[in-house]
Amino acid sequence: MSGPTPLIIAIDGPAASGKSTVAKRVAAELGCVFVNSGGMYRAFTWWVLQKGIVAEDTPSVLDLLAATDFACGEENGVGTITIGETRMTSSEMASTEVNANVSVIASIPEVRERLVAEQRRYAERNGVVMEGRDIGSVVFPGTPFKFYIDASPEVREQRRRSEGITDSIAKRDRIDSSRKASPLVIPKDALVVDSSDLSADEVVETVMASIRSRLV
Ligand code: C5P
Repeated sequence: MSGPTPLIIAIDGPAASGKSTVAKRVAAELGCVFVNSGGMYRAFTWWVLQKGIVAEDTPSVLDLLAATDFACGEENGVGTITIGETRMTSSEMASTEVNANVSVIASIPEVRERLVAEQRRYAERNGVVMEGRDIGSVVFPGTPFKFYIDASPEVREQRRRSEGITDSIAKRDRIDSSRKASPLVIPKDALVVDSSDLSADEVVETVMASIRSRLV
């Protein structure tokens, strides 16, 4: 006999739209695992750069991908990723170099295939709240719980500046939206929340109200 189907909440959106903050809090409220899929693309990008490989050198990136073991786990309700012996931390994953190269690495279909398989594994055992660019459209198209968190380009640039992070958001968005493999799109049945003029509390409440109304 199989158990109840784990809850899957997909939260997509462009860079710095506030989706991580919201996804983390929604996961805590629902008792689900929070998975930042962007962190997985960032982790592999860090590894590529660490090996002295240029992100545009696709053959070398693919050789490294084939030789890389990813261990994706969970600690205190948050997804973790270990590559080789290295447990990735946010300081490595959010570096200026990673910000500048991650969209190029994430546009390689083979890289996506490998990481999407890891992302789907999370939902085999636990309820998950996963945030990214293609979670509702490609990773879990069957979930009825799809959200797209947006904000104006000005608000998003300002959020990054206030975090003291150097990030070419506009360039990443352009690459992420125009790539052939799983581009950033609004899933057709997603609830779109524009967070430009909303507090994090208000966005969380909007998302939670939508989920609750369908759980009862
Ligand atoms: O969410 P975050 O901004 O950390 O994601 C970093 C990058 O990883 C994105 O700009 C995008 O290139 C890639 N990404 C992706 N698909 C996802 C999540 C992130 O291509 N599901």
